[in-house]
This record gives sequence, structure tokens and C-alpha cells, in this order.
Amino acid sequence: MASRIFLAEARQTKSIFVSSQRVTASKVNAASALNLRGFHTPAGTAAYWHVHCDFSRHRVHATSKRDGNKFHSSRGGTSRSFSIEKGFRGLSDLARRIDDEEHFETATDTNEGEESTLAFVKEEAIQDYTSNKKKSGTPSPWAVFDAWGASSFHPNLSAEEEKKLEPSAVMIPFNDGETSGVPSETEILQVYDKHLKSRSSSHFGYPYNLNYNHEELYEFMKYSINNLGDPFVTSNYGVHSRQFECAVIDFFAKLWKIPEDNYWGYVTTCGTEGNLHGILLARECHPDGILYSSRETHYSIFKAARYYRMDAKSIPTLPMGEIDYDILSEELAKNRDRPAIINVNIGTTVKGAVDNLDRILRILKNVGYSRDRFHIHCDGALFAMMMPFIEFAPEVSFEKPIDSIAVSGHKMLGCPMPCGVTISRKEHVKKVEQRIDYLNSVDTTIMGSRNGQAALYMWYSLRKKGISGIKDDVIHCMETAGYLRDQITRKAGMTCRLNDLSSTVVVERPMDDSFVKRWQLACEEDIAHVVVMPNVTREKIDQFVKELITQKDRYGRRPLARKGSPLSQLTSSTWGGNYSAPVELDG
Ligand SMILES: Cc1ncc(COP(=O)(O)O)c(C=O)c1O
Repeated sequence: MASRIFLAEARQTKSIFVSSQRVTASKVNAASALNLRGFHTPAGTAAYWHVHCDFSRHRVHATSKRDGNKFHSSRGGTSRSFSIEKGFRGLSDLARRIDDEEHFETATDTNEGEESTLAFVKEEAIQDYTSNKKKSGTPSPWAVFDAWGASSFHPNLSAEEEKKLEPSAVMIPFNDGETSGVPSETEILQVYDKHLKSRSSSHFGYPYNLNYNHEELYEFMKYSINNLGDPFVTSNYGVHSRQFECAVIDFFAKLWKIPEDNYWGYVTTCGTEGNLHGILLARECHPDGILYSSRETHYSIFKAARYYRMDAKSIPTLPMGEIDYDILSEELAKNRDRPAIINVNIGTTVKGAVDNLDRILRILKNVGYSRDRFHIHCDGALFAMMMPFIEFAPEVSFEKPIDSIAVSGHKMLGCPMPCGVTISRKEHVKKVEQRIDYLNSVDTTIMGSRNGQAALYMWYSLRKKGISGIKDDVIHCMETAGYLRDQITRKAGMTCRLNDLSSTVVVERPMDDSFVKRWQLACEEDIAHVVVMPNVTREKIDQFVKELITQKDRYGRRPLARKGSPLSQLTSSTWGGNYSAPVELDG
């Protein structure tokens, strides 16, 4: 029986972890919060196994392999330990065993002493990981990415606690009289910690990966790390993280295939800054250019056009959110006498639509724009970090005639502060570069002082996860998004769609605003969306769908706001597949 539970649990989380040591509560806690994605025992102790397996694909990955004799799995506060029998030949055996459902089900119905397995060990309840400052064990190089328990739910504040975060409580006193009436900073911060944990644990609406652990970097918060000036030209200010910033830039340059010595880039404050920089370079290269971008483009692109006083055209979109290629083509043909600056969306904000870069390049060629007459910026805030890890996805890279790509660092990568990266062709940056004596560097970036912590956090995330860790995260998001779409369609009977190259699930806007607030959904008129990130688990989705159905039973479904509204576009057959039809407008 126990084995069946284990199998069901493990299959649900699609992972296990393996260790030669008995699992302690803190390790269980970390691994459980992670959905058991792998675990290390401390270095120098008994030998260990380190495994990540994907039950849906019948695969087992090993990141570390030595001799070991125990096999642990944990979930929901309990841990089970399996002895690995003599003659066990290693991971391929384990993989076979995991794959072999029947073997598990029959062999594990009896407990200890069974020829080929298994002893089950009950562990103590999981404690709160964040508040357990004495956490034991060494974080795995790729698996323990959960600083605060992202995978579990955390309770809301009580009414009493909420009062400690009201403006009258957090106000900054001007005199002793005012000081006596407010809670202490410690009291306020304790409640704030609880508040953030609760809000983070039921967050579904924005593309932020909240599954991370940067505890090793907390020490560095005490330094005023500032990368002022250009990343590649060291200033006189010595408290910087340029070496890490350059490593991050090199990583993205390689990811997006731009030859060495041909690129420039920097760690930005966010995707918006990357867009502002990309469009600035475009304008400097083509001062009389016209900016074209789809109507569903993030507002930062048209903001750049406004800031830089550029002519810009907002091109209508197709129902799934891509730019309308025919209208773009017509507009380009009409304005052939002026250079074209095109922002290509690698994942739009609301529907996660990816504009077809190759088709846009073909249009430019067919309409008669030579390479020196167009400039392409790719806004890949979320998806430029995901696309390279998806098999058979179209390639967005500098091997094609594009000029810059911007991505956010707090989205897919999971940095706990807004940040990002922009990469562009080196020759363009020369157009904005100015020597600043005071910096002993050059001014090439939008900002002056630049957050050196952000570069360090991005570097750490990339190093810890590595290519395989990022890929696992991306696969999780894509598969789990499909699960959410199916649950909403089949169980909740609500209109719901998902673009093929996206983990952004678009759904009719729930009627209950308190539900929208609880799950922090991003809404646009009559639709809402959930962005499935690594911290969005099936378990959380099940709870979400349950509450979605409850609010639907109580308040009904949202009718179309108007003809041609965002919700009405979800009925287009271009999405393919089946869906629950929306409620029509009265009359
Ligand atoms: C497509 C797109 N571009 C740009 C941005 C802006 O990114 P950031 O919030 O990092 O400034 C977003 C934010 O969600 C986005 O969805």
C-alpha cells in the first residue's frame, strides 16, 4: 500500500531524491519544498546518489554518482527510505525499477526484508525553511532552490497582524511622541516576512519564478556593490561585481549565438531597461527610422518611442497574439523610403505570443529592405530565456540579422530582485558611448550607478542551475501549463487557451475579484492569465482550480465584455483544439 502512495506521489511530482544518509527534517523540508528534485548529502559524509527522474518520460538523470545504499523519497512531511540491495548496478537499475510500475507495486506491498527493497521511515513534520536559520546540510548545486517554501501554501495574516503593516504603523516618526505609538521595527518586519511568504505562495499571475535559494549570497548584501559605468571598462570604484556581470553577458551571448568580439551587453534593472536600451540603439543607428511593433507589445516599447520621440506604428494582432504579418507588410511597403525598426515579441505579456522572426525577415526581404535599412530588437523578457531550451522551437539568435535581445532576470531565471540582461551587436554601442573622466569608464548604459548585487544573483542562479537545471525548469513550466489549461477547460468548464510556445495560460476573467486578488492574477478587460513558473506546482493548480470552481458556482461566468473583446478572441479556431465557449453578450 505504502509503495502505491509513494508511486502516486512521486509520479505527481515527477521526481525523487536519493541519498545515502537518513534524511533530516531540514533536508526533507528543502527537498519537499522543491518537489523532490534532487538532494545532496553534505560533502565528506557517506557516499551519495543524486538523481532526478521524470516519470512521465521514464528517464532518470544523475548529476552525481558514488556508491550508496539508501534511496529516500519525501513529500508532505514524511520521508521514506529504501535500501538498495546488493548487486544493485547503479542508476540504470534504478531507472528500470522506477519505470517498472508493476515491480514497485508488487515488491513494495510487503515492507522490510523484501528481497529487492524497502523500508519506510516516517519523518517529523516539515518545518518552515526560511525561519529555520540553522538549516543543516549543503544545498545541492542544482536542486535546492527554495528560500522560503515556494511549493507549499502559507497562511494569511490575522487582522491583528495586518494592522502592523498599515501606513499608521509603518510611518517614519518625526518625534518621540510619534515613536511611542508605533510597533517596533522588529515586530513590523516579522509580520512583513509572514505577509511576503503568504503572498508569494499563492502567486499565479506574473511571470516571476519564485522558486530560488540565494542564501549563500546573503552575506554580500552588506556591501555596496555598484557596477557604475560600462561592464567592460573598469571604473575607479573597486566595490563592483563586473567579473560576474561579464560572465553573465558571456553566457547570454553564447545562448543567443553571437560571435565572440562581436557583442556587447550589460545587466539591467529589468526587461524594460533592456528594451529602452535596444530601441535607443536602433534610433541611433536609424535616426529617421519608424518603429513597428504589435498592438499586444509590452508598454515599454511604445514608451521608448515616446521618450525618444520616434514615429511608431502599433500593428494589429492575430487572435493568438502574434503581429498581423500582412498588415505589417503593407505598412512597411507604404514607408519604404524610411528605415524600419522592428520590435519582435518573443512572448507577449498577456498571451505569451511569439512573433515569427523568420516570417518578419522574409517580409522585409520581399518588401525590399536591405540589411542596412532595418534594425531588429527582440523583446524576450520572459521567453527568450525559455525558447532555447525547448526542442523544435524556432531559433531566435544573432545568427539571424537581428540587433539586440533583452530579457528579465527575475522572470524565468528567478532572481529575487528586478534585473535583466541586454545583448546587442558591439558596433551599435559605439554610437552612444561617451567617455566620463569622473567614472574612469565609458557611459553606454541607461543608468549611471548599476546594481552590482543583481549581476551577482544572476551569475549565481546560472551557475547553480546550469543548462540542465534551466532546461528542467522550462520543461516543468511548459508541461504544467498544459495541465492547468486542461483542468480549467475540463473541470471548471471555463474558456481557457494556451499558445504552443508559452506557459502563459489565458482564461476568462473570474467574476470574484477577491479570488483574482488572492491569486494575484493579471487581468485585461474580460480575460486573466496565469503564468506557470517553476513554483507553480500541480498541487497548487489543483487548489486553484477548486477555488475557481467555487467562485464560478457562486458568481457565475463572465460574459464577453464587447464584440471583439480579448475573451472573444479566445474563441478563434486558430488556437485549435477544444475549449469551453464563453458566455455571450446579452442581446
Ligand atoms: C513582453 C514583455 N516585455 C517587457 C516586460 C518588462 O519587463 P520588466 O518587468 O522586467 O521591466 C514584460 C513584463 O512583464 C513583458 O511581458
